[in-house]
Amino acid sequence: MDWTDRHCRAFHRVLSVRARLYTEMVTANAVIFGDRERLLGYSPQEHPIAVQLGGSDPEALAKAAAISAEWGYDEINLNVGCPSDRVQGGNFGACLMRDPALVARCVATMKAAVAIPVTVKCRLGVDEQDPEVALDALADAVLAAGADGLIVHARKAWLEGLSPKENRDIPPLDYDRVHRLKARLPDVPVCLNGGIATLEAGETQLAHVDGVMLGRAAYQQPELLLRVDSVFFGEVDPHPDAFAAVAAFEPYVAAHLAAGGRLHDITRHMLGLFTGRPGARAFRRHLATEGVKPDAGLDVLRAAVDEVRRAEERRSLVA
Ligand SMILES: Cc1cc2nc3c(=O)[nH]c(=O)nc-3n(C[C@H](O)[C@H](O)[C@H](O)COP(=O)(O)O)c2cc1C
Repeated sequence: MDWTDRHCRAFHRVLSVRARLYTEMVTANAVIFGDRERLLGYSPQEHPIAVQLGGSDPEALAKAAAISAEWGYDEINLNVGCPSDRVQGGNFGACLMRDPALVARCVATMKAAVAIPVTVKCRLGVDEQDPEVALDALADAVLAAGADGLIVHARKAWLEGLSPKENRDIPPLDYDRVHRLKARLPDVPVCLNGGIATLEAGETQLAHVDGVMLGRAAYQQPELLLRVDSVFFGEVDPHPDAFAAVAAFEPYVAAHLAAGGRLHDITRHMLGLFTGRPGARAFRRHLATEGVKPDAGLDVLRAAVDEVRRAEERRSLVA
């Protein structure tokens, strides 16, 4: 929430043709009563794409799932992991780990409303819950209700006393717990999430689980997505490097500008590109100063990329 949007996904899709992309969490009532184009709109190239719904009212979730399926999403994912106060106030997100029966009813009504897969993203447990018990209870309940797969953020959420940000770092990661879940449920697709910083770390997990989900690493260092298709899917990567990927992304940016959108809407999701390379800071600075101007065009993006090219040339001359 508040980080990714359709432009971020369109950018990530240029970097990997195969990765499955997820929307931020959208509440069921927002889908039912809100501005659907803003909440659910996406570009065709974003497939395969899952929408993540938040809520705990089975009927509302079923309605929102049906609407999302009409919009062409490939998967509905239910959020049982978000720890924010706002979400707890609405009795959804991570606090639902305490109520597997209710989550199961939500899954069952959504399954009855759509033909596409319905999956659940959860934590190991919350607060005083024993992860050995809580995760199995949640998993068994939603699977009995027809859930098609699980994504597990491999740490507990501490609803008492930690902020959402702290809840993404402080409760310790326990990958073994997710491995045990998968071993117990060999026929269920289980995807592991949390703290995976490199593709190699993700690949190692595939010995134990069916998939991995990257959050912050994908956002902060999108360049690593350039090798997802070869490392995880055994296919040819779509672009040899980030320069080629940006060039391939230009038509999307141009179309957004032509439709009256601003460059910054898109380039704000690109600031992490080139991280760790010479020129990365100049790239970010150029986008942060020039890219935010209302009339900024493709030339600004090209000039920012040229900063990296020049820095690399300078370095190779020195070397
Ligand atoms: C700013 C921010 C917003 C997030 N919003 C969502 C969300 O809407 N839905 C969700 O399931 N997870 C959300 N997460 C959690 C991530 O999806 C992920 O589970 C968590 O960051 C751990 O994975 P990572 O270490 O790969 O980032 C968010 C994380 C961050 C940092």
